[in-house]
Amino acid sequence: MKILTLAALAVLLGMPAANARTVDVTPLPAQVTVADGNMIITSATSLVIDAPAEDAARLRDYADTEWRRFAPAGKKSPTAIELKTVKRLDGVDSPEGYRLTVTPRAATVEATTGAGLFYGLQTLIQLADSGDTIPEVAITDSPRFGYRGMMLDISRHYRDKDFILKQIDALARLKINRLHLHLTDAAGWRIEIKRYPRLTEYAAWRPELTWKEWTDGGARYAEASDFNAHGGFLTQDDAREIVRYAADRYITVIPEIEMPSHSEELTATFPEISCTHNPKGEPDVCVGNEQTFEILQNILDEVMEIFPSEYIHIGGDEASKKAWKECDLCSKRMTEEGLKDVDQLQSYLIHRIEQYLNSKGRSLIGWDEIMEGGLAPNATVMSWRGTEGGIKAARSGHQAVMSPGGYCYLDSYQDAPATQPVAISGYLPLERVYSYDPAPDSLGTDVTRWITGIQGNLWTEYVPTAQHAEYMLWPRMIAIAEIGWTPQALRSWDSFRPRALKVADNMRSHGYTVFDLRGEAGNRRQSTRPAEHLARGKKVTYNVPWWSNYNAAREATLTDGLRGGWSYGDGRWQGFLHRGDQRVDVTIDLEKVTDITYVGADFMQITGPGVWFPSKVEISVSDDGKNFTTITTI
Ligand code: ACM
Ligand code: ZN
Repeated sequence: MKILTLAALAVLLGMPAANARTVDVTPLPAQVTVADGNMIITSATSLVIDAPAEDAARLRDYADTEWRRFAPAGKKSPTAIELKTVKRLDGVDSPEGYRLTVTPRAATVEATTGAGLFYGLQTLIQLADSGDTIPEVAITDSPRFGYRGMMLDISRHYRDKDFILKQIDALARLKINRLHLHLTDAAGWRIEIKRYPRLTEYAAWRPELTWKEWTDGGARYAEASDFNAHGGFLTQDDAREIVRYAADRYITVIPEIEMPSHSEELTATFPEISCTHNPKGEPDVCVGNEQTFEILQNILDEVMEIFPSEYIHIGGDEASKKAWKECDLCSKRMTEEGLKDVDQLQSYLIHRIEQYLNSKGRSLIGWDEIMEGGLAPNATVMSWRGTEGGIKAARSGHQAVMSPGGYCYLDSYQDAPATQPVAISGYLPLERVYSYDPAPDSLGTDVTRWITGIQGNLWTEYVPTAQHAEYMLWPRMIAIAEIGWTPQALRSWDSFRPRALKVADNMRSHGYTVFDLRGEAGNRRQSTRPAEHLARGKKVTYNVPWWSNYNAAREATLTDGLRGGWSYGDGRWQGFLHRGDQRVDVTIDLEKVTDITYVGADFMQITGPGVWFPSKVEISVSDDGKNFTTITTI
């Protein structure tokens, strides 16, 4: 019955019948025309590649191992798959774009680069859908953004080469082109540096298995040879293999070496480059000490040897800057360089490291804090504390990659917390990830032209196993992939969800652990369906203002009938900045004397991001709005 109704509607609207056939490709291609015919692949179908030798070898190898074996090219082939590079492609500006034309006789991909051919091949593989039939289509496709990335934190819990290669396989199928590896952080140094073997003999190991136990236990390191040493690191050979494997799938691996902060494992190995020389490790390196730069540059030299990526990520986030204020060397540096505060001291380090990377032909990318104290001239900003950092960078003519916590932090809960393994915080279901637009038209083209991409980030403080990491990544990375590739105007949740289910099923059949979207519980019901109560719509007065970062529904928040959802960042929770012993008085005017049988309010506590319960809650009532009687204290 439903199908008949829809067909009738199509006739009424005058839609051409050919459009009834759609393609099931993720990310959704930019332009698709489908006809009625098919091309059938048989054992005699040939694969003809006309591309520069390196690309041709990669593409053939990929098709052979990841799709199927084709017959050698010959006159007798009844059907053929053809991949060929061309000088230019009308209507396709991006070097990663392609045109795919399928007729009953041949499936032809044209592109100006090997990457374009690879993406056309990916589309073709999805069209064949593990079968022998490819629908007759004409597709002209290119990505919305040049940077489509995923970040994996292998410091907090080490993940080995095989895990990374497995994720690269999945990313390649979704046309992701950047893998950012968070290689260093307090919880462990994860890349072999031949000049400094102590980094991986010592700072890559800890007595506790999980990050939580490790921090609770005092955040100490272990010797690799200790009986209880947990951790690990990528050897340079491992890292090179990852780089090569990714390059064969047109993915660039971007290494991140954190500085000046998140560096306890570095300063525990070399206490002399922290301000205090504390052997337990300090979060920040000493910016006044020349030896700091010597060690960082020697490390970066080896990192650049291994990773040919233009971008080198230097972290730059969440520096404490505390020890710098009391350090003679840092003071001396500030005086000599005319730096007026510790923000400028941080900026001095970032500028100097940028110059070093630029002198080697590389570019610096860092978290949005690298703007504090003045952004280095050629730096790219990765915006994580919301979108403001990225937008500000873009406004000043710097490239920005958008990765805001509220949409792109895949360590957040993907379903109702009670149904999920413990996560760091936040509620980020697939639909919310998908709703993100990194470069909305409202910003104007002066800004959006500098927004070069999107990245999904998996931090792993609360993600101790490989299986768990996969579970957090998938299917949410599928949404990141489609945001990065598909024109905004073509994106819709209704089209995406069934395709995401299909990709997820396919991944599961290939041994991936994927969150079960079909069993999703969804957001807290009380946060989406208003309840009736006596205070509904009544006026609320506050004696202190709520914090503007957590406005929620402003004065209506407490009396609109809606409770907060699973996340403090969902726009429903109202927040107050802690100011000593100051109390927050909230008065609800019920307008007339009213019998009350129940008073309820919700509070949230998530200590990691600094969200706290009030120390007490007092409920008072009044008949005249002046004299209040306390009826309970909780
Ligand atoms: C970050 O989440 N500290 C970049
Ligand atoms: Zn110092």
